[in-house]
Amino acid sequence: MNIKNICCIGAGYVGGPTMAVIAQKCPEINVTVVDINEKRIAAWNDENVENIPIYEPGLSDIVKEARGRNLFFSTDIDAAIDRAEMIFISVNTPTKTYGIGKGMAADLKYIELCARQIARVSTTDKIVVEKSTLPVRTAETLKNILTNTGNGVNYQILSNPEFLAEGTAVEDLLDPDRVLIGGDIDTEAGKDAVQSLVDVYAHWVEKDHILTTNVWSSELSKLTANAFLAQRVSSINAMSELCEKTGADVNEVAKAVGMDSRIGSKFLKASVGFGGSCFQKDILNLVYIAKSFGLNEVANYWEQVILMNDHQKRRFAANMVRTLFNTVSGKKIGFLGWAFKKDTNDTRESAAIYVADYLLNEQAEIVVYDPKVKEEQVYADLDYLNTRSEEENRKRVKVVKDPYEVTKEAHAVAVLTEWDEFKDYDWQKIYDEMLKPAFLFDGRRMLERKSKEKIGFEFYAIGS
Ligand SMILES: NC(=O)c1ccc[n+]([C@@H]2O[C@H](COP(=O)([O-])OP(=O)(O)OC[C@H]3O[C@@H](n4cnc5c(N)ncnc54)[C@H](O)[C@@H]3O)[C@@H](O)[C@H]2O)c1
Repeated sequence: MNIKNICCIGAGYVGGPTMAVIAQKCPEINVTVVDINEKRIAAWNDENVENIPIYEPGLSDIVKEARGRNLFFSTDIDAAIDRAEMIFISVNTPTKTYGIGKGMAADLKYIELCARQIARVSTTDKIVVEKSTLPVRTAETLKNILTNTGNGVNYQILSNPEFLAEGTAVEDLLDPDRVLIGGDIDTEAGKDAVQSLVDVYAHWVEKDHILTTNVWSSELSKLTANAFLAQRVSSINAMSELCEKTGADVNEVAKAVGMDSRIGSKFLKASVGFGGSCFQKDILNLVYIAKSFGLNEVANYWEQVILMNDHQKRRFAANMVRTLFNTVSGKKIGFLGWAFKKDTNDTRESAAIYVADYLLNEQAEIVVYDPKVKEEQVYADLDYLNTRSEEENRKRVKVVKDPYEVTKEAHAVAVLTEWDEFKDYDWQKIYDEMLKPAFLFDGRRMLERKSKEKIGFEFYAIGS
């Protein structure tokens, strides 16, 4: 099928950047990104591209180049579906918070709504692409919904999971390690559909980086990739605790281990724990799928990755309390960073949220600075936990625009996100303005110990 119009349902962290890059690289294809969230679409259409709703290095320039030419953001979902030959589904697939599978299974209600809408609106044949991360065999459900409407439209379902990492999304999209496309490769129509999507990516991705598989392998590969990545973080974090007890240094261990070419050096950085919208939810989903097939050993094995991560966040916070003479009640604790990693404004599942919640339970007063996260997001994240009233969160947590307000008269400062700018702060000034002893907790292993100790800080870093 010759693709002239693409529709992407979901203008979030995946849909927005992915479609911007497709539009930039395929100027002859019209790409329309649609969403039910009017505010988000309005932000994507903001005249000033610096106000687009997602912060990613390099993204605003691409949007500036393609928007209005062949990249469009709209709330008219029906029109975009009807016009498109290829429809990407890129909506959120959070962990279920109710009913069967609560706290584990992926909530597929948004996916199903998309499928029903596509089935209702479509009058011409469509290739439907799963871009969202989905449990293995979801394509079967989609096919069922789409083909049972009986309006004579033919559908091909492809799985094309997204492997971008937030913070480097544009780089990852422009130069991906691989693009994975799963389809019904046993039929001619299925093979044609796969080829149509291969042709889109082939505008800028080398052919040998485009992998084609059957649908189930593609769906499961995405869950597997995230499970392996998160497992590496939990593995090194487990070692970080042992390092703290034994005098080993986790960075030295990681370097020594990572130089083994069978292991590799990436993703071996000890920290206060992984966050982000994907790792936890995708592993929980994997655990749920394994359990539903009765594979309890498989399920328990992967669940440990999550348990270790929860432990790491908790022990970081508990160590702060212990170090501050066993009480943080009424003490000002400064937080540098709230996003789940640097170079993104995404805070979903950020370790900072859980460390804050722990310290608030211990009656601390928290002041937060993050270069890209807005005040209302910090409160929304804490309110979502439902641990205390919204009033109390606003009373006990302050969000400021100047990092030196965070540190002034603080009993302790904690680095929760590895933003580069933190390294270049005037740490002497910070020390001078803090209460003494001045405790500094580096949850990201990003600050240099010797110079901080020389200034006079009581310095604690994960894993040493
Ligand atoms: N964020 C990442 O780094 C990342 C990476 C790879 C894969 N993924 C996967 O991609 C998917 C999307 O993730 P995200 O981070 O972009 O989510 P997101 O929450 O940022 O965006 C999803 C968007 O879909 C919209 N939406 C939901 N239902 C809709 C409907 N019926 N019609 C129109 N719009 C609808 C929402 O309003 C929201 O704006 C998830 O399955 C996620 O697991 C995410």
